[in-house]
Amino acid sequence: MLSTAKTGIQPEGTGMVQQGLEGVVAASSAICFIDGLRGRMLYRGYDIHDLAVHSTFEETAWLLWHGALPGPGRLAELKERLIAGRTLRDEVLDLLRTIPHATAPMDVLRSAVSCLSAYDPDVANHSREANLRKAVRLTAQLPTVTAAWHRIVNRRDVIDPNPELGHAANFLYMLDGALPDPAHGKAFDTALILHADHELNASTFAARVTAATLSDMHSAVTSAIGTLKGPLHGGANKDVMDMLHEIGEISSAETYVREKLAAKEKIPGFGHRVYKTEDPRATRLRRLSKELGRKSGDLKWYEMSRVIEKTMMDRKGIACNVDFYSGSVYATMGIPAGLFTPVFACSRIAGWTAHLLEQYADNRIIRPVGEYTGPTEASYVPMESRPA
Ligand code: COA
Repeated sequence: MLSTAKTGIQPEGTGMVQQGLEGVVAASSAICFIDGLRGRMLYRGYDIHDLAVHSTFEETAWLLWHGALPGPGRLAELKERLIAGRTLRDEVLDLLRTIPHATAPMDVLRSAVSCLSAYDPDVANHSREANLRKAVRLTAQLPTVTAAWHRIVNRRDVIDPNPELGHAANFLYMLDGALPDPAHGKAFDTALILHADHELNASTFAARVTAATLSDMHSAVTSAIGTLKGPLHGGANKDVMDMLHEIGEISSAETYVREKLAAKEKIPGFGHRVYKTEDPRATRLRRLSKELGRKSGDLKWYEMSRVIEKTMMDRKGIACNVDFYSGSVYATMGIPAGLFTPVFACSRIAGWTAHLLEQYADNRIIRPVGEYTGPTEASYVPMESRPA
């Protein structure tokens, strides 16, 4: 029999558990603020709309890591370090080439981060300076892994990073070897800014839990990638694109949504634990989806998305989230749907690592208690007395 005296915790349910930890404050953080009622979101005090218009991903990453906007010298230095960090060692590329092509890209990314730790010069150094260097390197490396994997599964040569290009444009370049349309480079940069952090989302929380045991940054990022993969989190952006393809025609969108809702199925890209109104990232991505659609002369995905959005609002009163329009934005700039969630990771790595630096700076192991709901009076039954 279990002893309650040992733990001091009552075995009977206390009724205090908030399923999914909804509304539970689990950490203090000065990185990202979300006002879910007003649809407001800030990185280090700066409104996401201002950053989307005026900043770059590189500058935003610095802001998340350091808590202030960089001056020109520091930003230039960061860009140089990101460019230097982009190139993968042959051993890492060789590992990617041995992975079966049917492997999910997020599984590849997770394995690659584990592998990258083995070659990281700071792997055993857990100082803040070393962790900052690791944060920059991981941010530089994830897009290269993602693009290299895309090339490998398509049986094409891996394209070396282009040091002349910024972080966003270089990723698009590494996918197909052509210099990207500047409008696509800018739109992708904005999308990276919008996805860079989001308070205690599930993957960031997973990363912080791992780091709080004083495990290393690569292990924490590996936890985060495994968590982001799920369809209730980052995996939803690929599901949105799959849904748009399944619907096929704009005229079928409303019926599709009605039928899914009638069958009690969820529509990917809708709903949010924190936002009770429109997700401000979705507001910007909707605009981008329309602009890029117009530019390409094909507004089909945008218009289909609008019908889905209207139907969801009419039927369920639920607004779309960051994953809904990011799908059509990425598709219009030629990013294959299978890479959407790794692309999310390429952006969120800035936020994950910022949270890890914050966790390490003021750490205590994260170890909540569970509410035990199992039996307490079970007596051991010898094998010969148990039913077959
Ligand atoms: N489609 C249809 N109904 C949805 C919905 C969706 N995408 N999201 C939430 N709902 C409904 C639920 O069915 C539930 O209705 P009910 O109370 O009548 O049963 C209610 O809204 C609350 O949803 P719940 O799943 O309990 O909310 P949550 O806070 O636990 O989960 C999400 C939040 C984001 C996981 C959830 O909205 C979801 O699964 N969305 C789809 C996946 C997605 O887009 N994820 C990316 C998030 S950025």
